[in-house]
Amino acid sequence: MKIYREKDYDAMSRRAAQIIAGEITHNPACALGLATGSTPEGAYKYLVDWYKQGLVSFRDVLSVNLDEYVGLAPDHDQSYRYFMQSNLFDHVDILPENTRVPDGLTKDPEAFCAEYDAYIRSLGYVNLQLLGIGRNGHIGFNEPGDHFVKETHVVDLTESTIDANARFFASRDDVPRQAISMGMGAIMGAKKVLLCASGEDKADAICRSVSGPITPECPGSILQLHKNVVLVADEAALSKLIAAGVEV
Ligand code: F6R
Repeated sequence: MKIYREKDYDAMSRRAAQIIAGEITHNPACALGLATGSTPEGAYKYLVDWYKQGLVSFRDVLSVNLDEYVGLAPDHDQSYRYFMQSNLFDHVDILPENTRVPDGLTKDPEAFCAEYDAYIRSLGYVNLQLLGIGRNGHIGFNEPGDHFVKETHVVDLTESTIDANARFFASRDDVPRQAISMGMGAIMGAKKVLLCASGEDKADAICRSVSGPITPECPGSILQLHKNVVLVADEAALSKLIAAGVEV
């Protein structure tokens, strides 16, 4: 795993955006696996800026998002489709028909999940998968458990994830209890994984994912089995790894 040690959130965001822009420059028709949340917001801002300056174009890019809350409509301001539109898609030249986010309102989740996986397989998996990480080590919404789940699936969010995401909702009760998430098959199928983390509250998850045992109790640890992972993290997120003596 290649590790970039950045001084703060802004430097992490800039580095992550450079890697994504590099992927697009190298392969303008690439497939990007995208994430939502606080972590990639800054990177998306850089990409929008660079698009406006004519430095990068999404015209031929395909995107597939990791996850979506069950029960939220695309125009709900906390849905991940809404997040992607407002943070990236509405500001760049990506074609709407080339963007995919799981459908939180699907009437047939099983069929939907199977189709989502079939689509990702039809791409030959994504060229680059962007990931944040939960405090509990989740990637996508693959929560800690006793086995890794391969397929896209409906997941019951853990109390820790509901707590972490309550900051975006009017109250904790408004946080959806379920999400549709890409499984480990689609994530690990990516040709390259770009894992980003910022802040002290991610230090434990990063340390366990990078240097702990490979276990579904820390879903991010599966990335140790992937041959092409780039971790971009700030000092705070790397602090436990550094304290554990891992060279970064
Ligand atoms: C988001 C996602 C999640 C987040 C994780 C960290 O699409 O799949 O795994 O990456 O919950 O969230 P933030 O970045 O808000 O700390």
